[in-house]
Amino acid sequence: MIELKNISFGVDDDKGKKEIIRDVSFTVPDGKLIVITGPNGGGKSTLARLIAGIEKPISGKILLDGEDITGMSITERAKKGIGFAFQQPVRFKGIEVFDLIRLATGKSISVADACSYLSAVGLCARDYIKREVNSSLSGGELKRIEIATVLARSPRISVFDEPEAGIDLWSFKNLIEVFEGMRKHIKESSILIISHQERILNIADEIMVIKDGRLINKGTRDELMPQLMSTDSAVRDCNGVGEKAIDLAPEPCSTGAPI
Ligand SMILES: Nc1ncnc2c1ncn2[C@@H]1O[C@H](COP(=O)(O)OP(=O)(O)OP(=O)(O)O)[C@@H](O)[C@H]1O
Ligand SMILES: [Mg+2]
Repeated sequence: MIELKNISFGVDDDKGKKEIIRDVSFTVPDGKLIVITGPNGGGKSTLARLIAGIEKPISGKILLDGEDITGMSITERAKKGIGFAFQQPVRFKGIEVFDLIRLATGKSISVADACSYLSAVGLCARDYIKREVNSSLSGGELKRIEIATVLARSPRISVFDEPEAGIDLWSFKNLIEVFEGMRKHIKESSILIISHQERILNIADEIMVIKDGRLINKGTRDELMPQLMSTDSAVRDCNGVGEKAIDLAPEPCSTGAPI
């Protein structure tokens, strides 16, 4: 179980201090699949980076099974069981896909075992297992390989940031099945997926909406899906005509310079 307690985060940019995450608290209990959604720029990836330890909060605490991990490094957190798939995966020149999966499991595994993880994400394993994780891989291939490494690691908490990004419709269907399969087997671990996709929201136990760095809504899939589906699009809202249940559209730019 991971708990975020009053997490705030900001950066100094050329316009001064910028608050990105504002007093966010939530719990991801064991055995649950939680989906975070919300408008672009709301702070979802930043939250994922805070959980992974890539960023450190200005205030607040992160607890993993009751242990305070706020001050721990990325490596320490990975060892404790936090697995992370980036929105934009990293390429590792000189490393083969097989090495990446083997490193993820943390033990010596057979090629057949490694292949099973690739097949799970819809890749024809024998075509990929010896490929180098470099720029020759397409974005969608790389994304799926990264998801395979998280599966291989089977962490205490798996965080997937927009796993759907760049993945074709056929592989996406496969991916939903992968998440549903994971969901059935997680008793003492949990899954946190950041997504804009209705089909991923549909498999969530609980959905959280992050907007402007705040947790603005939270509830079960049955509670939140009707609200989310009836929300007007950002474009409609920008025209000042949207007035549905919850407002997911970005705030209009207050400094008002014409674009
Ligand atoms: N290091 C940084 N310096 C300045 N601004 C930052 C930094 N990191 C994040 N931001 C800003 O914080 C906001 C939140 O970014 P974040 O990537 O968390 O959004 P997101 O909800 O994941 O969006 P998306 O749905 O587009 O992936 C954005 O406005 C982004 O530009
Ligand atoms: Mg993001």
